[in-house]
Amino acid sequence: MSSKEFLQKKIEGRKLSMVTCYDYTFARLLAKSAIDGILVGDSAAMVMHGHPSTIYATTELMHLHTEAVSRGAPGKFIVADMPFLSYRKGPAAALEAASVLMLAGAQAVKLEGIDGHEDVVQRLVQSGIPVMGHLGLQPQSVHAYGGFRVQGRSSESAQNVARQAAALGELGAFAIVLECVPANLAREISANLRIPTIGIGAGAGCDGQILVVQDLLGINPDFRPKFARPFVDGAHCVLEALANFDNAVKAGTFPSAEESYS
Ligand code: KIV
Repeated sequence: MSSKEFLQKKIEGRKLSMVTCYDYTFARLLAKSAIDGILVGDSAAMVMHGHPSTIYATTELMHLHTEAVSRGAPGKFIVADMPFLSYRKGPAAALEAASVLMLAGAQAVKLEGIDGHEDVVQRLVQSGIPVMGHLGLQPQSVHAYGGFRVQGRSSESAQNVARQAAALGELGAFAIVLECVPANLAREISANLRIPTIGIGAGAGCDGQILVVQDLLGINPDFRPKFARPFVDGAHCVLEALANFDNAVKAGTFPSAEESYS
C-alpha cells in the first residue's frame, strides 16, 4: 500500500482499514493482517506512557515508536504523527521533524488542522512527503476545546470542518482523518473530496476507518467511547491467562517436565 493506492481505493469504492500501532510485537502481528495502513499515533503518549493527552508526544518519542513499528512491519504503509507544535514553528522546523519520522521508517506523516500552517502542508507535500490531514476533534487542541468533544455539530463548526477538508485536498494531502464529527457531515465531506477520509467516531460514510489497536482488542476497558467497538474481549483473555499462570505456578504444575531442560 502507498499514498497513491489510498487514492486508487477511493476511486474503486473500496474501504480502507487502518489501526494505530506503537511497538514491534504488535507490528509483527499487523504485518500478517490485511489492514491497509498503520498509524504510529501520538496517542502513544496516552496509550503507552499514561499521559493525560497527546501533547506529551515529542519528536524523539515518535521516532522511537516509529522505528519499532517499521522494524516489525517493514512491508506495511506506515504513517507517523507529527507531535504537538512540531509543525507550528514554520516549514523548516516541520521538515526537520518530518525527516526524523521518515528516516525512522514512516512513509507519510499526519498533522492536525490546517489554519495557520498551510505553508507547512504545502512545503511537506512539495518535498515529496505524503501528508495525511486530521480534522474534527484534534486531540492536540484539547485544552482549547476544554475537553475531548465532538466537533462540527453547529452549522458554523460543520462549515469550518468542510472548508478545512477542501483546503487540505487543494494543498495535496493524500487522505484526511475525520475524528468525532457527526456522521452526516463526514459523509458529505467524503462525497465532496477526491481524497479518502478515514473516520474515527465519524460514522460509516467515510472512505475508511481507523481505531486504536488497544481499543479494538478490548484491552482498555476503562476507556470505551461509543465508536471504539472492541472486536474481542482482550482484557478478559489477558486476565484469564494471567490467572491461569498464577494458579499453575502456585499449584506447582508449571513448568512441567516437558517445559524444563534436562
Ligand atoms: O494518535 C492517534 O491515535 C490518532 C487516531 C485517533 C486517528 O490520531
